[in-house]
Amino acid sequence: MIEDAAITSQILDDIAAEVRMCTLCPLAKARTKAVPGEGAAGARIMFIGEGPGEQEDRQGRPFVGPAGQFLEQLLRRVGLEREEVFITNIVKCRPPGNREPMPDEVAACKPYLDGQIAAIWPSVICLLGKPATMTVLGIGEPMGKIHGQIVERDGVKYVPLYHPAAALHQASLAPVLLADITRLKPLLTSQS
Ligand code: URA
Repeated sequence: MIEDAAITSQILDDIAAEVRMCTLCPLAKARTKAVPGEGAAGARIMFIGEGPGEQEDRQGRPFVGPAGQFLEQLLRRVGLEREEVFITNIVKCRPPGNREPMPDEVAACKPYLDGQIAAIWPSVICLLGKPATMTVLGIGEPMGKIHGQIVERDGVKYVPLYHPAAALHQASLAPVLLADITRLKPLLTSQS
């Protein structure tokens, strides 16, 4: 097990190093820092967002701005610290003005995300917002219809959730996001 964790850690480090040097799409030109993702190599839960924002681009770390603070609060409500999970995005460089990533940018970056998922192989993957849900599951339904519903594929439980930034902009979504995460608590805190 210790060896497994060391191998996973090495694979994640290798992916992060590649991401930091990546020039595969135009987002590379405008970035301050690439944001590969971070967290426990042995994480059973992964959170996938859309793309780095201003603070993430400056620090090279995912979800460190207001949406990240809200995500940390939500995690604590179910007894988790961010160090226990793995947090990443569908694109690893900031889209200008925080626009949605373009399909070609998502496609260029996808192998990095696929590599992270394959290395960690978590039990639960929370997909934060529609772009993450579309990219990972190919499901483009409105969040209002699919949030909180578990989709099981190859033994992994995928859960589309409202993006924490959406809940910050639209206050009525915050209790919905909290309720979805709370309902997932048994899944998020089990060791399987
Ligand atoms: N929003 C995201 O989708 N990802 C981040 O890392 C920060 C904000």
